[in-house]
Amino acid sequence: MPRTIIEPFRIKSVEPLQWTTRREREQLLRAAYNNLFLLPAEDVLIDLLTDSGTGAMSTRQWAAIMEGDESYAGSKSYDHFRDSIQEIFGYRHVIPAHQGRAAERILFSVMCTKGDVVPNNTHFDTTRANIEFVGAEAVDLVIPEGKQPSLIHPFKGNMDVQALEKLIEHVGRERIPLVMLTVTNNSGGGQPVSMENVRQVSAVCRRHRLPLYFDACRFAENAYFIKEREPLYEDKTPKEIAQEMFRYGDGCTMSAKKDGMANIGGFLCTNDDLLAQQEKNLLILTEGYPTYGGLAGRDLEAIAVGVQEALHEDYLRYRIASTAYLGNHIAEQGVPIVQPPGGHAVYIDARAFLPHIPPDQFPGVALAAELYLEGGIRAVEIGSLMFGAAAKMDLVRLAIPRRVYTQSHIDYVVEVILEVWKRREQIQGMKLTYEAPFLRHFTARLEPVEQAVAQSV
Ligand SMILES: Cc1ncc(COP(=O)(O)O)c(C=O)c1O
Repeated sequence: MPRTIIEPFRIKSVEPLQWTTRREREQLLRAAYNNLFLLPAEDVLIDLLTDSGTGAMSTRQWAAIMEGDESYAGSKSYDHFRDSIQEIFGYRHVIPAHQGRAAERILFSVMCTKGDVVPNNTHFDTTRANIEFVGAEAVDLVIPEGKQPSLIHPFKGNMDVQALEKLIEHVGRERIPLVMLTVTNNSGGGQPVSMENVRQVSAVCRRHRLPLYFDACRFAENAYFIKEREPLYEDKTPKEIAQEMFRYGDGCTMSAKKDGMANIGGFLCTNDDLLAQQEKNLLILTEGYPTYGGLAGRDLEAIAVGVQEALHEDYLRYRIASTAYLGNHIAEQGVPIVQPPGGHAVYIDARAFLPHIPPDQFPGVALAAELYLEGGIRAVEIGSLMFGAAAKMDLVRLAIPRRVYTQSHIDYVVEVILEVWKRREQIQGMKLTYEAPFLRHFTARLEPVEQAVAQSV
């Protein structure tokens, strides 16, 4: 069999890209206060800001969309959605929501109160913010290997099980309403969690009668890593692996904008009847009736097909290989990345890329700005701007939208990164000129440090 891994699809509909000159990009970046979230998307050539909701849907998804039943209550599209999700996730209650953070808000509002503590391998920014919003504390317990960007380990997303035991002992199980595991661990480099670790965490939770929930956004990519890297799983299908993993938990939150292969949507699952009732009551208050949860019937149909397609083995082989292709090609030239490359994204270690810029001058923001100036690429900082003092690393994430870019796009991205790498010593740090009280990275305004000094003199 030929070794080249090709995109396992043909392209049926295309969207032109828009070119800009370097001079135009300089003006655009200034107008966006050096925050790439504030750029008009049409001025971005290759958009690697996120893999969330940016994927291309399949012909089967588009066909299912035409079957959308838009009835307010009892829509048959909800039945398709619930049945498809239950087949994989196995949980009794499936509650739709408009995206992952809505599911999180409902879950934490129902389960947490002030003073509670919620452990996770690494909380994503929206889970952390939603936990803190109800006055609880979000604690990250990823294994020590997961905090060392250049270290190679097959499951750097694993939770430190001893640290979990210690935390339970220290704060007491009464203050821990649930334990979470994020698969794959987005904020820790898109790194997978092993089945063995899931089993161990689940055993600790069972022993202390604590519910275990998955932040399941990239469950299919995690399943494929288990198949590739964990003994005894190579002959199992990604779906069998996902089914087994979810059996160790009691519920999940999910953003269907990732491995749901949809442009919008999410859901919350639980096996607990009482919680489900409370969650549905809250859902009705802010999202909508429980058979649509803030989504159109057609969105439910797209997700019902998408969660199944995300588990196709040829798709996952291509997905994981193409992300690794980008990571390996820049790493070969010395660019420091989180090793090994993650499932949905490559993470550049900005502290190692720009050692002359201290964390309080946002090396990740400075590097992301430079990638845009050089080649119109939009990436995102995951570090001191996003997490403030809690940031353990300063990373620049290049997230690959699903089924959108081809290998030549990725070759272009490699070339741009290597150009910036050559002149890394000239890049300056950044200074905040505006920040919102939470999730500040979305709206922050920054300027280069030298410029800030010059103005204050
Ligand atoms: C691990 C993880 N959890 C939760 C979310 C939140 O999902 P959404 O953007 O749909 O609200 C994301 C989104 O990127 C994520 O990566």
